[in-house]
Amino acid sequence: MAALSGIKVLLVIGGGIAAYKSCELIRLIRKNGGSVTCVLTEGGSHFVTPMTLAALSENPVHTTLWDLRNEVEMGHIQLSREADLVVVCPATANMLAKMAAGIADDLATTLLLATDKPVMAVPAMNVRMWSHAAVQANVARLREAGVIVLDPDEGPMACGEYGAGRLPEPPAIWNAIASWAGQDTGAETREREPQGGLGGPIASLIPRGGRKAAPQPETLLAQKGGAAAAAAEEDRGALYHFDGAPLAGRHVLVTAGPTHEPIDPVRYIANRSSGKQGFAIAAAAAAAGARVTLVAGPVELATPPGVTRIDVQTARDMAAAVRESLPADIAIMAAAVADWRTRDMAESKMKKRGDAPPALELAENPDILATLGASDARPGLLIGFAAETDDVVENAQAKRARKKADWIIANDVSGGVGRSVMGGAHNTIHLVTEEGVEDWPQMPKEEVAMRLVERIALALENDDD
Ligand code: C5P
Repeated sequence: MAALSGIKVLLVIGGGIAAYKSCELIRLIRKNGGSVTCVLTEGGSHFVTPMTLAALSENPVHTTLWDLRNEVEMGHIQLSREADLVVVCPATANMLAKMAAGIADDLATTLLLATDKPVMAVPAMNVRMWSHAAVQANVARLREAGVIVLDPDEGPMACGEYGAGRLPEPPAIWNAIASWAGQDTGAETREREPQGGLGGPIASLIPRGGRKAAPQPETLLAQKGGAAAAAAEEDRGALYHFDGAPLAGRHVLVTAGPTHEPIDPVRYIANRSSGKQGFAIAAAAAAAGARVTLVAGPVELATPPGVTRIDVQTARDMAAAVRESLPADIAIMAAAVADWRTRDMAESKMKKRGDAPPALELAENPDILATLGASDARPGLLIGFAAETDDVVENAQAKRARKKADWIIANDVSGGVGRSVMGGAHNTIHLVTEEGVEDWPQMPKEEVAMRLVERIALALENDDD
C-alpha cells in the first residue's frame, strides 16, 4: 500500500450524533497527506450532509447502491477495493450487527462485505447499548475475524448518560490509523485466518490486505495523553469547518461566561455559567473568517485562535467592554450576566457578628442586550440567549420582543446541579426568530456554535441579496 503519507481511506459514516466528528477526521487524514472517499449511510445523512463531506474530502460522496451512474464510473466492488483501509466511523450498534452477520442491505454494508481491504470500526453509541451482550458479542466476532474495532471513550454522552460509548476524539482515531499503517514498514504481511472456526458470511469480513493487529487500547490511551492531545491542542480551531470564509469582513462581538459581583474583597455573587457555549461561538465565528471580539467573564478557558479577548469581572465592566468594542455587524450575547449586584461593596471582609446575618442590599445591573437593542449602534444582527427553567420557548419569545433582539437562543437549564446545560458539554436549544421557533436536537456545544454561525452567514447572505 501507499506510505502513511499517501494513505487512501474509504470512510463509511454511520448514523450517530458522533458523525460530525468524521468531518474532523477527514481533515486530519488529509492534513497528513492522505486522501479520503466517503460513503454516507442513510442514518449518517441525518447528521452530516454529502455536501459537507464532499467539500472536506474533495471527492464525490457515495450514498446509494442504486446509483447507475456510479455503477458505471465507480461500482461498489471497485469502491470497496480502491482504498488502503476502510474506516467505519462512527460504527453504530446496528452497523456492527450487520457487519458481524454479513448483512448487505445498503451501499455501506455491501462494500464492507465485498472489500478485500482491512477494516477498522470506530464504535459510538449509548453506554447501555455498548455494554449490551449482543453488541459485545458482535464486537468479539468482528475482532476474531480480523476487523480492527477501537474501544470507545468513556465520558458524558450526547444522550445525557455517562460511560463507555463515546467516539474517541479524531486525533486518537488518526493515531490508530497511523499506528496500523506504521506496521507496514516493510514487514512481511501475512494472511490472518479466522480463529474459532467462523465460516460463512463472517469470512467475508476478514481483512486480506495485511496489517492485522489492532492498536491496543493501552496504546491509544497513552497516545491520547501525548501526541493526540498535543495535536488537539494545536488544532483547536480545526473543529470548525466552513466552506471558504463566510463571515470574512464582518466584526462579531460575543459575550461569554458569568459575571462576578463582589460582596466584599473575598466574596461574590455568581452563577454556574462555564462560558463554553460563548467560547465555542467565538471560535466558530473566527474559523468562518470574522474578526471576533470576545468579552469574557471570569472563566478558565483558553482563548480560541484568532479571537481578541477582553476579560471582565462584573456586569458593569462587561457593559463597558461591549460599548467600547462597537461597532459590530453581529452581536451574540451568550454571557449569563448577573441581574443584580450588591448596592455597595464592603471595603474589607465582612465579619460574623452576633446572630444576625448581614443584609445584602441589591441593585439592578445594566441589561447589556436590551441596551444594545435600543442603541443607535445596534448591530445588524443581534442575538441573545435565554437560560430558562420553565416555559422555555414562551419566555424566550417575550425576551426577544422586550430586548429588541433578532434571535433568541433558548435553552432549558433546569437539569439541576451537575446535570445542567450550564457547565456541561452539550446543549439543546430552540432558535426563536421572527419567523418562528426551531427545535434543535441535543448536540455538543461546538456543533451548536458551528450551526449557528452557518445560520448567521446564511441570514447575512440573504440580507445582502
Ligand atoms: O433576562 P435574561 O438574563 O434572561 O436575558 C438573557 C440574555 O440577556 C442573554 O443574552 C444575556 O447575555 C443578556 N443579558 C444582558 N445583560 C444583563 C442580563 C442579561 O446582556 N444584565
